[in-house]
Amino acid sequence: MIKKESMQVISSKEIAKDTVEMKLENSYISETAVPGQFLHILLEGHSLRRPISIADVDKEKKLVTILFKKLGSGTEQLAEVNSGALLDVLGPGGNGFTVDTKGKSTVLLIGGGIGVPPMYYLGKTYANQGINVISVLGFQSKEHVFYEEEFQELGETFIVTNDGSYGDKGFVTNALHKVGKFDNYYSCGPLPMLKAITNKLQEKTGFISLEERMGCGVGACFACVLPTKTEKGYKKICSDGPVFDAREVVL
Ligand code: FES
Repeated sequence: MIKKESMQVISSKEIAKDTVEMKLENSYISETAVPGQFLHILLEGHSLRRPISIADVDKEKKLVTILFKKLGSGTEQLAEVNSGALLDVLGPGGNGFTVDTKGKSTVLLIGGGIGVPPMYYLGKTYANQGINVISVLGFQSKEHVFYEEEFQELGETFIVTNDGSYGDKGFVTNALHKVGKFDNYYSCGPLPMLKAITNKLQEKTGFISLEERMGCGVGACFACVLPTKTEKGYKKICSDGPVFDAREVVL
């Protein structure tokens, strides 16, 4: 259940160009968060909260890790928040990924840019349950690459950069031919990437996380509606998602 909580900033550092890793402490959110859920953070002087996906959780230490890109005044301000400060957070938000190991041996994770973070907590959860994890991660260029080693610890990892300055050149879809057999795929990233992935992997069962367009974050304002092929028609990204069956949504 989503709750209003206070989270203490334990550490904050830039781990790639314009990309910040922040660790936050909170018992309730670290105990209850599942991969694919998000924190809805209210910054001082702002009236709207900002959704940021959960990249990792350490239940023992009660820590939640978020990774975000400094894109505009809100995230620039968040990057400046010092250790020890308290953040006003609604969380954990939305419906995350269902981690189901039944009948599975291998899962494929496909993350693009700031869609990479939620893939990490999901991959770690699967790897801890004995499932093979293959990751394909896309970034703009070498200086934007983050968490490569962390993903490699989970399993085989392919890096793609748009300009070819590191790994393969192009988009994540260009690297899919390198991937062996897998059962399900999971993806998060920009909309054009998700469109390309869901087209290319039409025959496979996949789940995608959509994190754009949010207002209230709790199902009350309709800022995040998305057409679906289900009987219900439109669904809300913040409360029905952000994770959807790839064949259910109209992108
Ligand atoms: Fe308000 Fe989803 S953001 S309903």
